[in-house]
Amino acid sequence: MKLNIALLAGDGIGPEVIDQAVKVSNAIAKKFGHDITWTPALTGAAAIDAAGEPYPDETHDICMKADAVLFGAIGHPKYDNDPSAKVRPEQGLLKMRKKLGLFANVRPTFTFPSLIDNSPLKRERIEGTDLVFLRELTGGIYFGEKGRRDDGETAYDNCIYTREEVKRLAKKGFELAMTRSKKLCCVDKANVLETSRLWRETVQAMEKDYPEVKVSYEFVDAVAMRLVQWPNSYDVLITENLFGDILTDEASVISGSMGLMPSASVGEHTSLYEPIHGSYPQATGLDIANPLATVLSAAMMFEDAFGLNEEAKAIRAVVDKSLAEGIVTEDLSGKNKAYKTSEVGDWLASNI
Ligand code: IPM
Ligand code: MN
Repeated sequence: MKLNIALLAGDGIGPEVIDQAVKVSNAIAKKFGHDITWTPALTGAAAIDAAGEPYPDETHDICMKADAVLFGAIGHPKYDNDPSAKVRPEQGLLKMRKKLGLFANVRPTFTFPSLIDNSPLKRERIEGTDLVFLRELTGGIYFGEKGRRDDGETAYDNCIYTREEVKRLAKKGFELAMTRSKKLCCVDKANVLETSRLWRETVQAMEKDYPEVKVSYEFVDAVAMRLVQWPNSYDVLITENLFGDILTDEASVISGSMGLMPSASVGEHTSLYEPIHGSYPQATGLDIANPLATVLSAAMMFEDAFGLNEEAKAIRAVVDKSLAEGIVTEDLSGKNKAYKTSEVGDWLASNI
């Protein structure tokens, strides 16, 4: 099969972890007889430096023409502490999500048997956790009108959702639930927010189309608490943009390392696959960052974007093997030898 993939390495450790995912994907292509064309393109601070813009039109064209986008990370500290900066790397990510119509962010959370004691949470709480967040990605407070008034003394960010936006995300949630344990949790704050009441009303109206799915409605504050207390009680969770941003970072604690969690963003045009972690600027260029979240994002890409399930399985199997054999970066190595990012990538590729 011919696979045409846009490669957006981005900032910080992005290029280093992306390199390992490319090595692994190329090894998979060789083993299974595929032909991958990688087309690199600029995003984030790297794109601001080169083109004055964090998501240049040229990058968008490359993404639109590709079958899938593999993405590293975005963000640079020189913008974080400068509230007056007019362009920011993160704007590139938001623009990319909006222009590619990536309205559903799929973030699975699972545990690795060999790493269970890496989590700060007790083994008996988290063992067997296997849940998926579907985070709405192109609406809500991220994209509502924002601004200042009263000479800059007052600031506002509007949270806006249309019924259609809720419906298309919820539809994905119901469909995903049907392929799993048929349990769906709608996370909202319907006791306070009007947008949440629209979410709840919309999802409730859809229940009749999926009679087998058992839907629960829970407030976001309660979910934040129960997620680390009883993660096993959840399966598929749907939620709006900001709640999903916060809860998925929280959920990554269950797996023991943020460096392990992959994600997919899907919607109207080309789908995008990326690790949930950020650009980890302190580690840039040190060859120490954990590449597994990006490698596992490539596995999601093989599966979702190309329907290549055996290839995805082979990637997950080699990742499990590296964890079991301790071929891991410093975030996971404990008292044992820490491998470099590139060494982990080489090991994975040569064990495929
Ligand atoms: C994420 C990130 C982004 C977000 C930032 C970098 C804009 O935290 O992908 O979760 O808030 O969506
Ligand atoms: Mn986030």
